Amino acid sequence: MQRRSRLLLVDDDRAFRLSTAELLRQDGYEVALAADGQEAAEAVRDAAFDLILLDLRMPGADGMSVIEALRRWGAGVPILMITGFGTIDSAVQALKLGADDFLTKPLDPEVLTSRIAELLDRRPTVQTVKEEALRGIVGRSPVMQSIFDAIRTVAQTETTVLVTGETGTGKELAARAIHDLSPRCDRPFVPVNCSSMTETLLETELFGHVRGAFTGAVRDKPGLLEVAQGGTVFLDEIGDTTLPLQQRLLRVLQEREVMRVGSVRPVSVDVRVIAATHRDLRAEIDAGRFRDDLFYRLNVFRIELPPLRLRDGDVPLLVEAALERLRSAHHQFANLSCSPLATRLLRAYDWPGNVRELFAVVESSAVRAAGSRIEAQHLPEELRSAVEQRGAGGPRYRPKTKPQDEREAIRAALEETNRARTRAAALLGMSRTTLWRKMKQYGLDEET
Ligand SMILES: Nc1ncnc2c1ncn2[C@@H]1O[C@H](COP(=O)(O)OP(=O)(O)OP(=O)(O)O)[C@@H](O)[C@H]1O
Ligand SMILES: [Mg+2]
Repeated sequence: MQRRSRLLLVDDDRAFRLSTAELLRQDGYEVALAADGQEAAEAVRDAAFDLILLDLRMPGADGMSVIEALRRWGAGVPILMITGFGTIDSAVQALKLGADDFLTKPLDPEVLTSRIAELLDRRPTVQTVKEEALRGIVGRSPVMQSIFDAIRTVAQTETTVLVTGETGTGKELAARAIHDLSPRCDRPFVPVNCSSMTETLLETELFGHVRGAFTGAVRDKPGLLEVAQGGTVFLDEIGDTTLPLQQRLLRVLQEREVMRVGSVRPVSVDVRVIAATHRDLRAEIDAGRFRDDLFYRLNVFRIELPPLRLRDGDVPLLVEAALERLRSAHHQFANLSCSPLATRLLRAYDWPGNVRELFAVVESSAVRAAGSRIEAQHLPEELRSAVEQRGAGGPRYRPKTKPQDEREAIRAALEETNRARTRAAALLGMSRTTLWRKMKQYGLDEET
């Protein structure tokens, strides 16, 4: 199913905003509202939109300067201007400035919806050509769909991006996708792990040095920021840098130039910066470990990757992706599969190490299953007991399963526990009564 298109409606006239939004929602669009340029800019920064409807005559910054600002954030998003009576000239000017189309008030609802549909239809096609870059990121949950949208949108801009999320949620994968979908894709993508080096080493890595800058500096050496020229530098674990280094990075972002260690001559660099951290940078700021000015520079566009436990619907897909990877990598895994009960247990698990942990668990289980079907007993003991304990205390989720899979899962759980119903129920994350009811429903209560 196609997801609903998301529109942003910007107009200072409240009554107009509400009635138009109502109309658009009836047409099946998702609509967000903004009353002025400031709110519009904030909205575009926080979420990806498919189309922006914009009124020209607004207090504060007027429509024109808003277009410019919106173009900076949401580069590829079509903008449909709505102008009041007698402002055709400025509408023409708006088109020159980058609006894609305009309509005059009063709006004819039918014209409005057909223009919107047209604009949505002729969205840029370059993205579909390069979609490959996103295909490595598995996920169909709504929250991942909105991450894909954000990646696509921000890739078209030059904006600095901050990627946050727990360990193993795919921060580096997202950073690469942004680069691969961006106009810089044929220039270098240079990852720098800021937590794996001492401050001095990281400094010379990033900024380079000149000959004689320190003992051992026998020749000039460009830093990674220069190596990334024209491309993207990925500052991984930026939350682990020291305050002095943060100061130097801030200068790079502000001045777009670097100074090699031991040199006073600035070299200008054209790099796009993507930073990532698993830390809560606001907390780091409060603790005096992170510069707030650098944070604001980095946090221009934020992509927050959700932990796997908040999108457990993606687990079966990720399990399948992991199986597929193993099947094609080793011939002893050519017939690898995963039973419904095992999948169910994997889905109910908390995944503190997120996707990375999931890939590792599937691989180790595949080894224990000797390359055939992964059953519950092949899963790591800690995982099974973690899920079982949760089951006993009442499950947090009730995964929806197809009836034949559910029957199979129940049958396997009963076998697994020698038909000890309390344990089987815990394993399945259901109450004993529910288990009993389902056993009868599936005709599993007769066996002994
Ligand atoms: N949505 C996903 N689809 C497919 N593979 C994924 C996904 N998310 C993460 N992975 C895989 O999981 C592993 C960890 O991902 P990645 O290195 O991007 O995580 P990270 O957020 O940078 O983690 P850390 O904070 O520990 O560095 C990689 O092998 C990556 O390919
Ligand atoms: Mg990482």
